[in-house]
Amino acid sequence: MSKKKPLRSAAWFGTADKNGFMYRSWMKNQGIPDHEFDGRPIIGICNTWSELTPCNAHFRKIAEHVKKGILEAGGYPVEFPVFSNGESNLRPTAMLTRNLASMDVEEAIRGNPMDGVVLLTGCDKTTPALLMGAASCDVPAIVVTGGPMLNGKHKGKDIGAGTIVWQMHEELKAGKIDLNEFLSAESGMSRSAGTCNTMGTASTMACMAEALGTSLPHNAAIPAVDSRRYVLAHLSGMRIVDMVKEDLTLSKILTKEAFENAIKVNAAIGGSTNAVIHLKAIAGRIGVDLELEDWNRIGRGMPTIVDLQPSGRFLMEEFYYSGGLPAVLRRMGEHNLLPHPQALTANGQSIWENCQSSPIYNDEVIRQIDNPLSKDGGMCILHGNLAPKGAVLKPSAASAELMKHRGRAVVFEDLDDYKARIVDPDLDVDETCILVLKNAGPKGYPGMAEVGNMGLPPKLLEKGITDMLRISDARMSGTAYGSVVLHVAPEARAGGPLAAVQNGDFIELDAYAGKLHLDVSDEELQQRLANLPAPPTPNFIGGYRELYVKHVLQADEGCDFDFLVGCRGSEVPRHSH
Ligand code: FES
Ligand code: MG
Repeated sequence: MSKKKPLRSAAWFGTADKNGFMYRSWMKNQGIPDHEFDGRPIIGICNTWSELTPCNAHFRKIAEHVKKGILEAGGYPVEFPVFSNGESNLRPTAMLTRNLASMDVEEAIRGNPMDGVVLLTGCDKTTPALLMGAASCDVPAIVVTGGPMLNGKHKGKDIGAGTIVWQMHEELKAGKIDLNEFLSAESGMSRSAGTCNTMGTASTMACMAEALGTSLPHNAAIPAVDSRRYVLAHLSGMRIVDMVKEDLTLSKILTKEAFENAIKVNAAIGGSTNAVIHLKAIAGRIGVDLELEDWNRIGRGMPTIVDLQPSGRFLMEEFYYSGGLPAVLRRMGEHNLLPHPQALTANGQSIWENCQSSPIYNDEVIRQIDNPLSKDGGMCILHGNLAPKGAVLKPSAASAELMKHRGRAVVFEDLDDYKARIVDPDLDVDETCILVLKNAGPKGYPGMAEVGNMGLPPKLLEKGITDMLRISDARMSGTAYGSVVLHVAPEARAGGPLAAVQNGDFIELDAYAGKLHLDVSDEELQQRLANLPAPPTPNFIGGYRELYVKHVLQADEGCDFDFLVGCRGSEVPRHSH
């Protein structure tokens, strides 16, 4: 007979001695009867609930349903809070604290009596942060997403969270609408609980969690307020108890094959560029070698078939009603476009077993492979003397005519410089120019803010120009769009060639060939880099931000901290007394 692996929680509650007394006794102040310390699996519910993270503000109710499922399956639920990354409020950017949250999650899991964990994720960074932390422990874990908001409504029309802000702001600057009209969309945009209802980063990462196999099918798309969201929470609570019994740890699910599936799915859904950074960071934690080149190799050529904003027309509600991610997976699999149909998922079945007979209800939202929204939806990974360690462009959000473009650089040294000068009617710029923004990367901002889709000069907007090529070391919101080269690595503040670009230089982009070239000679470029002024002293001393700037890796390495990469396991630490 094979010997069963003892539960971690038994190292706390399973002994009749001083330590067992202490661990049990204090827990009993919550009203837990003796018999519940009988060795049943203890399941953590890692909750990113916060009123400052509006997208996750309904998570206490989700947690209640997870608890019901855990209890029904014979486990014992313990809910705990972790740092909540709220995209809309956190300044200078929620990305600054993604790694902080991941450390919080990792140490909370390892240091506590937990045999498995349910990860309650929603707003953008909460998904990667929780998966990163749990992956570093390699315990059984299942993702339950909070779900997207209902469609925004404004003047009788559907409007998409985030995307409508970028759109209406450009219209405001172009003089097409007035300020009252602009502000009137606020309450209609966010009219229910949930995350952004566009295919922004939250929806993208929810789809990535499902494509990776870390959640039950349909986790990504069920609206936050749909009762089926609570059913899924309940079923996930039931399932994690069995995952503990089966010792189905994250490393059995998060394989290289799973990441390759996710990369292809990202192209199919027209997902956010932020996924490139987050998947790398998650892979790094579980010990899977994922390279920028994998996005080219796996993703390129995959059509975008999900017609959602910002690339397309619809929103997450329609996506769910049309069949959700299982429908997309089925369509991919039927055309041999799902690289690894046998990849294992959280329910113990392969991804193909889960989706092979999933219904597809609407071919306009989940389009046929031969009638895609965009023929090649894979991320363009760019290299060249301007981005020796790579850069990223999302073709489904870009203008076809700018995918190959040579133009004169109009350079902004940082975001303040951009804000001060972009409105200047005398700024020497036309629509063929390339807007270049420096010092918005991981170390430079710090935190690599979502400012890469910088708005166009008002004088060009007034002329009716709606897109220009933009290049930076920043990120872009998943709800945003445009011909935007992002994640240039190394970043300007780390001494990357981006720092050496000058006004009037010519830059060449050939997205099809994966090329980003600054038209100056190697000698000139080296000379300019050697003569760069020392970076300004940051306006903060000490604290988390100092740790961040010292240890953050560049975008091509997922912006994790150098000392956090890797899986450190879930061995029970020594006693506290
Ligand atoms: Fe939280 Fe978009 S701001 S999901
Ligand atoms: Mg976002």
